[in-house]
Amino acid sequence: MKLLVDSADISEIESLLASFPIDGVTTNPVLIAKEKRPFKQQIQEIRHLLPDRLPLHVQIIADDCKGMIDQARTLYDWLDGNVWIKIPVCKEGLRAIRKLSADNIRTTGTTIYTPLQAVLAAKAGAGYVAPYVNRIDHEYGDGAGVVKTIADLFRLYGFNCKVLAASFKHNSQILAAMEAGSHEATISPELLKHLADHPAANRDIHGFRHVWQSQYGTFSL
Ligand code: G3P
Repeated sequence: MKLLVDSADISEIESLLASFPIDGVTTNPVLIAKEKRPFKQQIQEIRHLLPDRLPLHVQIIADDCKGMIDQARTLYDWLDGNVWIKIPVCKEGLRAIRKLSADNIRTTGTTIYTPLQAVLAAKAGAGYVAPYVNRIDHEYGDGAGVVKTIADLFRLYGFNCKVLAASFKHNSQILAAMEAGSHEATISPELLKHLADHPAANRDIHGFRHVWQSQYGTFSL
């Protein structure tokens, strides 16, 4: 199970990489725009923060096949290492995924709301699909169910495509996506930090230290 950070915030990514077992980074146009910096510079700095082997998933903006392909090639020129081009799964997106896959450009099918979108993306050659768990919960109520159906179908039909569950607003959705068989999950910095932060654990840590200091008058060994 791989955990990626869903962010374009350089300092957040840097600090999370130092503390958490992070397997890569995903961004989307909203996350990039929030940083209010030139896109090329921002995305290249994020790439440089990551070891080459760790994946960076970057989304295109165009909504027609030719534009998507041009932007995907531009991103491949700008970025070294393990890069995946996020393409929304719609009619034009599927055409772009097919052509890019034929040219060995790695793609991630994004904006996935249904298992059939995921199957189409996998058949077109996407290496990942990104179902939007919270947004699906918000629309229909079963994001984890969609993840499970996709994971089951990929296994049943032997698709060479992985599930990268995305769009989480609560820890329980992350756990549900893992239980549903998602291969990977991309998580916002806010939620990631909360995964390692429980009030009972904090109370216990404080308790251990308090007893130690009362007995030995120090926090040293
Ligand atoms: O990368 C996932 C993103 O594209 C959607 O996530 O949190 O905006 O619903 P969110």
